[in-house]
Amino acid sequence: MFGPEFEKRVDELVAKYPEPRGALLPVLWEAQRAKGWIDTEVEVWIAERLGTSASQVHGVVSFYTMYKQRPMGKYHVQVCTTLSCMLRGSDELVDHLQSKLGIKPGEVSEDGRFSLVRVECLGSCGTAPMLQLNDDFHEDLTHDAVDQLLDGLP
Ligand code: FES
Repeated sequence: MFGPEFEKRVDELVAKYPEPRGALLPVLWEAQRAKGWIDTEVEVWIAERLGTSASQVHGVVSFYTMYKQRPMGKYHVQVCTTLSCMLRGSDELVDHLQSKLGIKPGEVSEDGRFSLVRVECLGSCGTAPMLQLNDDFHEDLTHDAVDQLLDGLP
């Protein structure tokens, strides 16, 4: 589906686990890196490759917010809105991002540049409020810091 390099990487991941299905999370991650999101076709391919069912793969994909079930923006903004971040202003941060980006949580900007989502705790509670921009954490955020971050993107 993704070519020999990807399949080689999947083989390497599967070899690390006693059962092929144990490699599900890292294989999903590799697939997402390759395609950008996980669709039904990818779920079926992975299920066959790992000897499990497509419904089990879909259950995992739909449970974890780190897996995207549709195309997202070039810059995917995930704002933690769990307790520590909420107490430190994450709801106001989401409001600020909504007006700055012109999109609501769950949406992608018309130019495909930004997507915005609310997510559960990302494990950085001591530096709340925080967000994840693609693969990177940004912590102890203020509205000005968010503006600086987004305005500085290429
Ligand atoms: S509550 Fe936001 S990172 Fe944990």
